[in-house]
Amino acid sequence: MRHFILFSRQGFTSSNFKNLRDSGRLDLVSHCIISSFFLSHKTRKDVTLHIILNGPPNPPLYIKIEGSKLYDTRTDEETIGIILKNVLSNNKHPGFEISKKSFQELIKELSEENEIYVLEEKGELIENIRLKDNVAFVLGDQVGLPKKEELFALRYGKKISLGKTVYLAADCITILNYNLDKVL
Ligand SMILES: C[S@@+](CC[C@H](N)C(=O)[O-])C[C@H]1O[C@@H](n2cnc3c(N)ncnc32)[C@H](O)[C@@H]1O
Repeated sequence: MRHFILFSRQGFTSSNFKNLRDSGRLDLVSHCIISSFFLSHKTRKDVTLHIILNGPPNPPLYIKIEGSKLYDTRTDEETIGIILKNVLSNNKHPGFEISKKSFQELIKELSEENEIYVLEEKGELIENIRLKDNVAFVLGDQVGLPKKEELFALRYGKKISLGKTVYLAADCITILNYNLDKVL
């Protein structure tokens, strides 16, 4: 199983927003959803995306999205935005689950069955790491992962780098999926 964990510092925790960008960058969250699951005419069943939203009004909020249960969606930002608004209003959507879990609880839980990797330019190059079946990758948002959360995650795992170029979080997920497709 592939797990991606996105820590969103400001992503809104209610559906009370006009557009995705001004809702603490839920546009970035939507792009990460698209990169995690969508292939051409197919979705990835072996991916789970974990999103921790830390924006107003009720942080933290945990959204778990499982590829094996995901359907009734399309690959565009507008559709994903509508689904996010819906689940943030406590409505159901196949594959989406919402609860009040914190980032630290999630890391602890995932570390029981997965290798934890924290995405960071200064980490060990991905080419030098032998990736296994059960992996969980931690990503920051447009600002990056807060130091406190990074240090916590590093108690359970290590830093991994995609090189010196700083990529968008969603592009990191695409690169990780590509690398995992080659080896697993
Ligand atoms: C847009 S970047 C954040 C940029 C922010 N200025 C920073 O320095 O963290 C979003 C996230 O993508 C990941 N990332 C971006 N480029 C990377 C790279 N070359 N190697 C590993 N992770 C990367 C990191 O997890 C980062 O927190």
